[in-house]
Formats: sequence, structure tokens, C-alpha cells
Amino acid sequence: MPLHIVILAAGQGTRMRSSLPKVLHPIAARPMLAHVLDAAFALSPEQVHVVIGHGADAVRTQLAAYPVAWVSQDRQLGTGHAVQQAMPGIPDDARVLILYGDVPLIRAATCQQLLDRLQQADLALLSVELAEPRGYGRILRTADGQVVGIREDKDCTPEQRRIREGNTGLMAARAGALRAWLACVSCNNAQGEYYLTDVVGMAAGAGRVEAVIAVDEHEVAGVNSRAQLAALERVYQAHQARVLMDEGVSLADPARLDVRGRVIAARDVFIDVNVLLEGEVVLAPNVRIGAGCVLKDVVLSEGVEIRPHSILEGATIGAGCMIGPFARIRPGTLLAEHTHIGNYVEVKASQIGAGSKVNHLSYIGDSEIGAGCNIGAGTITCNYDGANKHKTVIGDDVFVGSDTQLVAPVTVGAGATIGAGSTITKDVAANTLALSRSPQIQRSGWKRPRKGG
Ligand code: UD1
Ligand code: CA
Repeated sequence: MPLHIVILAAGQGTRMRSSLPKVLHPIAARPMLAHVLDAAFALSPEQVHVVIGHGADAVRTQLAAYPVAWVSQDRQLGTGHAVQQAMPGIPDDARVLILYGDVPLIRAATCQQLLDRLQQADLALLSVELAEPRGYGRILRTADGQVVGIREDKDCTPEQRRIREGNTGLMAARAGALRAWLACVSCNNAQGEYYLTDVVGMAAGAGRVEAVIAVDEHEVAGVNSRAQLAALERVYQAHQARVLMDEGVSLADPARLDVRGRVIAARDVFIDVNVLLEGEVVLAPNVRIGAGCVLKDVVLSEGVEIRPHSILEGATIGAGCMIGPFARIRPGTLLAEHTHIGNYVEVKASQIGAGSKVNHLSYIGDSEIGAGCNIGAGTITCNYDGANKHKTVIGDDVFVGSDTQLVAPVTVGAGATIGAGSTITKDVAANTLALSRSPQIQRSGWKRPRKGG
């Protein structure tokens, strides 16, 4: 039986108090709906149908990369009505899985459990035991435990409100039966909506309902407010931290790491507190990341040490490099092994050879620096003339004295020495000394101006 997945994402999310559609609010920097779509596609469905209404254009644009069938629900007349909008695109012999765009942490394995139940049932629902079930539909069962229906919170009797088994809203059903039940759903209830949950009573009448009780309440938690969104972000991050620790990463505090992307980590990596990892991050064995670092799309080779409060993006860092504290490495940077980048150094779109050092207060942009160089404190590559960017090329074993400006385009030959305080505007030949410095003058008996004198 082909699998069709319907994701409900048309609601407004009033309680978010936002101009952004609710399902676009992020968990780990990706829209909630993207998380649900990932779980959906992991089940290899025939087709995924996403029901959209509020902010439909924004939702389609942001998730354009997913091959889904967009279904419009212009007026939000209820969850039953929402599913009905997708049914014309679903054949009778299909299995239908219904997910919510605002239940972001759902796992494919749990969905699969629901689908497996369709072998002996026409409908399988996912319920959850809740300490505080207010707002949820309640699962009604007979004395011997048979599910007979779902009653929405607003329609419950005081006695039914005491039921702690809540409806997650997620369900699986055979398409033909679901289509027939949906045709019978009315809006004769407290909210005047077409409730999807009414189909459960109809299926139960035919004795064809199964319920799966979710083991993890966070996995099925819905987001209605920013507080709930933040709570699920923490759940998600705790899980990421757990996965890294299982792979052999030591975390100074698992609650103070945020992963907003994908991390591939080897053994014996150490990550100190308040670190943010974004995009694709690869960490080789024995990498150490200091407190307060932000790393995005980087590859750190074996034994690299990033000292506190450094920001790296789009860079490949060779084995044994030492970076920071307070360093900024920008996209297009390639550091060979054992280079040192120190405090208040910015490197952009540059290659730096093995063992070279740029230890203090420098800007290196659009440069190629050889191996074994020492770039003195305060060295600036002047790569921008106001219109275009130019390259600085420095050979191996060059010594650049402190407070030097290298006005690009410029080339410094291997083994050259540049005296401190120079402004280098012409190429420097290999193994020479270059110096551009105004001569020092001296006035003896110089009287310094004094106030009131
Ligand atoms: C629904 C369930 C309730 C369950 C709860 C779990 C129904 C009638 N009730 O209630 O049993 O305990 O979820 O969170 O199904 N949506 C649409 N179009 C609509 C209405 C809703 O796309 O016309 C979408 C919403 O965007 C949301 C989801 O469906 O993603 C659930 O809708 P919501 O209004 O939040 O349902 P609840 O009243 O919370
Ligand atoms: Ca809800």
C-alpha cells in the first residue's frame, strides 16, 4: 500500500504573536516544518501533502527545496476539513499518515509504529499520558481498554476532563475508510469546527481502531507559544549533546552547547561552555574548543585548539593549529598544519603555510603566506583600494616586522625581512631587507607645552 503523508500547517498560531507563520519558527535554526518534513521523507512516502493557509506564500518559499504537494486551505475550518483538502490527491488503496507542522520533534520510527498498526486496523492514533492534559482531546476507552473515541477538551464533561490520556493529533489510516469517515464529520461542537478527531469514534464503531501510547512526551509536544518553542529547543539541544557525547566528545556542560546544523566529531574532542556550532562542522580527534566560540562550516583537523571567544566560518584548519583567543577566521581561509593565529587577528580568504605565526592584532585578507613566516603584531594587508580587492603573496620564511602595511597587489619573496613600521608598496625580492620608515629625529632640550603656561 503506497504511503501518503499529510502535514497540517495552515493554522495561524495566534499565541506566537508573530508575523512569521508558526511553522516557520525555528528549532536549531531550521523551520519547525523542515524537521517534520525530514521525519516524513525518512519514511519513503509516495507523496507528502502539506496543507497551508496562513502565510502560505512564505511557507512555500522557505521550504521550496522539498518535493511536496502544496494544498491550500483558505479558511481554517478545523483539522478534519484540513485533511479533506488533501484527500483528492490520495488514492483509496493508500495508507495516510497525518502529522502536524507544529509538532517538530516527531521521529520517523514512531510514525512507522503507527503505520504498522494498520495491518490489523483501519485507523491507528498516537496518544500520550500527560500530567497536565488541559487543551488536549481526551482518549475515551471502554472499561476493558478499547478506544471508543476522542472528545475535545472544550466538549468534555468534568469527568472526561480528568482523563490523562491525551490525543497527540498524529494518526494513520487507510485512505478509503478515512475518506468515507471525513465525509460524515460535522461541525456541531463547541468550536464549530470540523474535527479530525471525530473519525476515531466512527472507526471505533467498526471495531477497527488501535492506539499507540507515545513513550516520549517531548516527541509529540506541539508548539503554540514562544515559551513552548524555547522548551523544545532545549530538548532538541540536549539530544544533540547526548549524541556527541556518545561519539566520544567531552562537553564541559551539555546544557551550554548549541548545535544548529550537522557535526561530525571524532573521539576525544573537548568542547568548553557556551559554544555554538552551525552549518557543517567536522572535528577530528583531540580538537579542543574553548569557551564562547562560534564555528560555522569549518573543518578542524587533528589536535587543533581554538581558544576562547573565537569566531570561525568557512575555513579548513590544519592539524595542530592554535587559534585565538578572540580570533576571527572568515570564509575561504585555509591554514596549513601548526600555524598560530593569535588574539585580535582577522583572516579572510587567505592561505597560510605550515608553522607560520600571526599572533597579534593583524588583518590578513586575500593573501597567500608561505611556511615558517612570522607576521608581526599589527600587520595589515591593505587588500582594498576602494573599488577592487588585491592579493598579497608572501613566500616561505619571511619575517614581517610589527605595524607593517602591505599595500596589495604586492609580493614578498622567500626569506625576505621587512622592518617594523614599514608601508610596503613595491614587491620585495627574496632574501632582502625592505624598510620604509621616516628617519628618526632628535631635539635636545625640547620643552613640552604645558597647560596655563
Ligand atoms: C488538536 C486535536 C486535539 C489534540 C491536539 C494536540 C482536533 C480537533 N483536535 O487540537 O485532539 O489533542 O491537536 O495538539 O484535531 N490546522 C489546519 N487547519 C485547520 C485547523 C488546524 O491546518 O483548519 C492545523 C494547525 O495549524 C495545527 C494542527 O492542525 O498544526 C492542529 O490544530 P489546532 O487548532 O492547534 O488543534 P487543537 O485545537 O490544538
Ligand atoms: Ca494545537
